[in-house]
Amino acid sequence: MEKNNLTNGSIDIHQLEKYADDLVKAYKSEKQKRKELEAANQQLVKFADDLNKTVLELKSAHQELQESYLDTIHRLVLAAEYKDEDTGGHIIRMSRYSAFIAEMLGLPARDVENIPYAAPMHDVGKIGIPDKILMKPGKLTDEEFDFMKTHTTIGAKILADSKAEILQLAQQIAISHHEKWNGRGYPQGLAGDTIPLAARIVGLTDVFDALTSKRPYKDPFPVEVALDIIKKERGEHFDPDVVDVFFENIDQILKIKDEVDADGDVSLPGL
Ligand SMILES: [Fe+2]
Repeated sequence: MEKNNLTNGSIDIHQLEKYADDLVKAYKSEKQKRKELEAANQQLVKFADDLNKTVLELKSAHQELQESYLDTIHRLVLAAEYKDEDTGGHIIRMSRYSAFIAEMLGLPARDVENIPYAAPMHDVGKIGIPDKILMKPGKLTDEEFDFMKTHTTIGAKILADSKAEILQLAQQIAISHHEKWNGRGYPQGLAGDTIPLAARIVGLTDVFDALTSKRPYKDPFPVEVALDIIKKERGEHFDPDVVDVFFENIDQILKIKDEVDADGDVSLPGL
């Protein structure tokens, strides 16, 4: 009688050997795959790490670029205002007042963020005004005053056609910060809300700070006198809403004034 496979020892041994062999191969292959997977995993962790480092480096480079940009703006402002007295303090106070009022009036966050950097450039066009007019201690003649008015249009030309949001806002402010709510300002005689809101805000903070600061032609007015003048000009020189917000928050405004005056720091925020 023929032996079946179960009882044929030699066939079983071969098969068993083959199974064992396959099992070893499968095990080795599995081990190899696991090793490769582990190596790939480590590589991925390294890539993620490198990517993280690159992102951090890019962020730092971006921040450095942003700071250089704002620093350049600040220096441009200082260059333009160099000959005026107390200008460092003036531009910091009025830019902080302006940002604060912009926030209280509910301007878009981007404008609130940009105003402290754009507002200080309002008088950048003074760079084109002769010293004998700019630094004249007495009252300007009509002809000299007409010349002085051109600092708005000169400033607008200097700041024109920029792709940067801050400079676009600065241009609006430069050309319109001497417009008046009643239409009797310059250079275009714009009235009411045809005057860009940022320029209406800066128009007020610039005057308030000029009144309460020493200038070549005058000593500082007491704060109460300056506040009376602004109140009287509500709806005439100044936008009534801006005046209202200014008075509603007068304690904060005066706190900013005290802080800047006490600190003597004439850097823009963040620099
Ligand atoms: Fe001005």
